[in-house]
Amino acid sequence: MSTAALFDRYGTPEELYTTEIPVPSPGYGEVLVRYTAIGVNPIDWKILRGDLRTQLPLAFPGCLGVEAAGVVVETGAGVRRFSVGDAVIRHGRPGTYRIHEVVPASQEADELTAMPARFSAEQAAVLPVAAGTAYSALRQVGLRAGERLLVHGASGGVGLATVQLALLMGAAEVIGTASPRHHELLFRLGATPVEYGSGLPERLAAFGTMDASVDCAGGPQPTVATVRLVDRPARRVTIVPDPEAHAQDVPFVEHVPLELASTLDLIGHSAFELPISARFPLSRAAEALALSQKGGSGGKIVLLPDGIPQ
Ligand SMILES: NC(=O)c1ccc[n+]([C@@H]2O[C@H](COP(=O)([O-])OP(=O)(O)OC[C@H]3O[C@@H](n4cnc5c(N)ncnc54)[C@H](OP(=O)(O)O)[C@@H]3O)[C@@H](O)[C@H]2O)c1
Repeated sequence: MSTAALFDRYGTPEELYTTEIPVPSPGYGEVLVRYTAIGVNPIDWKILRGDLRTQLPLAFPGCLGVEAAGVVVETGAGVRRFSVGDAVIRHGRPGTYRIHEVVPASQEADELTAMPARFSAEQAAVLPVAAGTAYSALRQVGLRAGERLLVHGASGGVGLATVQLALLMGAAEVIGTASPRHHELLFRLGATPVEYGSGLPERLAAFGTMDASVDCAGGPQPTVATVRLVDRPARRVTIVPDPEAHAQDVPFVEHVPLELASTLDLIGHSAFELPISARFPLSRAAEALALSQKGGSGGKIVLLPDGIPQ
């Protein structure tokens, strides 16, 4: 048997319960993966809340989670891309809040990517959403070496990845908005932190114009600052769907194909790392989700099915 965190109706994190289910078997072109680390993201509680019920209708019981890292433990017929024992990163459609999952193995399905040896399982598990989205956003604004980038929400999962990838792309300066308690972290990563809140556009204007802007926070204030400081709409992007941003010519991010593979190429053997702000066993997935929904943890939240190392 295996364990999964499931829910039977839309609602709040308390809807999640862990239960024992049979270990599934991989069919043709599929592999069975055993997860050792699972990423928790805002999209998870948004799906649970029913925000995406039109675009992504769920069958109940539902299972959240759009990223994880683990090991292939069985291969179905016709699979040549992966073998038993391979470390992999799973990304894409919801369903990773579980220990075992059957996943299509083909490159076209783009749900599994070989895990580079330089990552721990928990680092690998939290890369797809944060670093993948950051990568697509930076490509969309066409960031070039020597430029100055503005990042709203720089202390969140995507923001922390955006800061680091921008510096890897050669940005001369990254200015990131965050709560003061996260400024030290941003300094350490090489960014210039600025407190968000009342007076933000004026505080940012003191730096002069920005070449490009990535909004990882959403809301009216970041949009106002972006529009004031970045002239061309093509050099602005937001990852949070927001009618105000749309109305003000701040385009929504478009994910590039094979996003994770390209992101891993850029990261290479650099010191890129996402801070882990909290670890929970799978049995406490509801608490992990509630923490994500509360926000402000200053890093990524992970579920560790094999327990928390002491
Ligand atoms: N479109 C996509 O493909 C995509 C992909 C990933 C995420 N998203 C969305 O993007 C958002 C961020 O995701 P995430 O994983 O980075 O979330 P997260 O880890 O929870 O971080 C959110 C961050 O926003 C910051 N924040 C809150 N209000 C702010 C404001 N007014 N100005 C600037 N920063 C503010 C917080 O900073 P402090 O803690 O310092 O206060 C926090 O660090 C979520 O809404 C998520 O659903 C979209």
